Amino acid sequence: MHIVHTIAELRDRLARFQRPAFVPTMGNLHEGHMALVRQAKPLGDVTVASVFVNRLQFLPHEDFDTYPRTLAADAAKLAGAGCDLLFAPSEGELYPGPQTFRIVPDPAIADILEGHFRPGFFTGVCTVVMKLLQCVQPRVAVFGKKDYQQLMVIRRMVRQFALPTEIVAGETQRAADGLALSSRNGYLSAQERQEAVSLHRVLTLMAQRARAGEAHAPIESEAIETLRQRGWKPDYLLLRRRLDLQQPAAGDDLVVLGAARLGETRLIDNIEV
Ligand code: PAF
Repeated sequence: MHIVHTIAELRDRLARFQRPAFVPTMGNLHEGHMALVRQAKPLGDVTVASVFVNRLQFLPHEDFDTYPRTLAADAAKLAGAGCDLLFAPSEGELYPGPQTFRIVPDPAIADILEGHFRPGFFTGVCTVVMKLLQCVQPRVAVFGKKDYQQLMVIRRMVRQFALPTEIVAGETQRAADGLALSSRNGYLSAQERQEAVSLHRVLTLMAQRARAGEAHAPIESEAIETLRQRGWKPDYLLLRRRLDLQQPAAGDDLVVLGAARLGETRLIDNIEV
C-alpha cells in the first residue's frame, strides 16, 4: 500500500486508474472500517482510503484536539485489509486557507437528529466529503450505516450535485454483545463498556415493538426513560422513515435511531426496522 500526503501525489498515483473505490475515514480505525475497505475492494480497480480528522465537523466543545491520531496503526490495518492507497493529508494540505466556501445541506435532513444536537456538523461533513470526492474522483464511495443520517445526507448531496460517484452503504459491524463498533468506544471505561450495549438493546426492543404495530410515541418515551434510569443522558431515541428521516406515515420503511451520552462519551446507533 502506498501512502500519500498531498493532493498532487494522490492525483499522480490515481492517473492510471479509471474506477477508484473510496473509503473516507477520520482514522483510529477498527474492524468496522476494515469491513468497508473489504466491501469497496471488488467495486473498483484501485482501493483508496483517506485518514483526515476534519476540524470543520467538530463543535468547539467536542473532541477534535483529543481525537486519537493513530496513522501508523491505521496504515497497517488498511494494508492488511487490501487497501492500495492511503491519502493522509495534513490540515494545511486540505485546508490551505480558511475554508470559506462550504456545502450547506438541506436543513430538512441535516438540522434534525444529529444536526439538531451538533449544529453545523453536516455542513462540516459535506464540505470535507465534497473536497475528498474532488481529490479522489471515485466511481464508488462506501459509507457505514452506523452513521445513518450522514449516509442519507451524503447520498442527497451526491445526487443533487450530479457527482459521478455511487454511494454504497456498509452494514454496521458489532462486538459480540451487539455494541456497534465506533472509534469513540475507546473512550469508555471498563464499566461503561459493559453498560454501553444497553443502547443497542433498547433500539432492538424499539424495533421489535414497532414491527408488532405498537404506537410510536410510547415506544420512544419508554426507551428514553429506560436509558435514563440506567444512568444515560439520551439526546434522542426515535422511529423515523428510512428514506428522509422524517416522521413516518403508515406503510413507510422505518429506522430507529438513537444518540445518548454515557459518562463523557456520546454514542449513536440505529437499526432498520
Ligand atoms: O464518518 C466519518 O468518519 C467522517 O464523518 C467522514 C465521512 C470521514 C468525514 O470526515
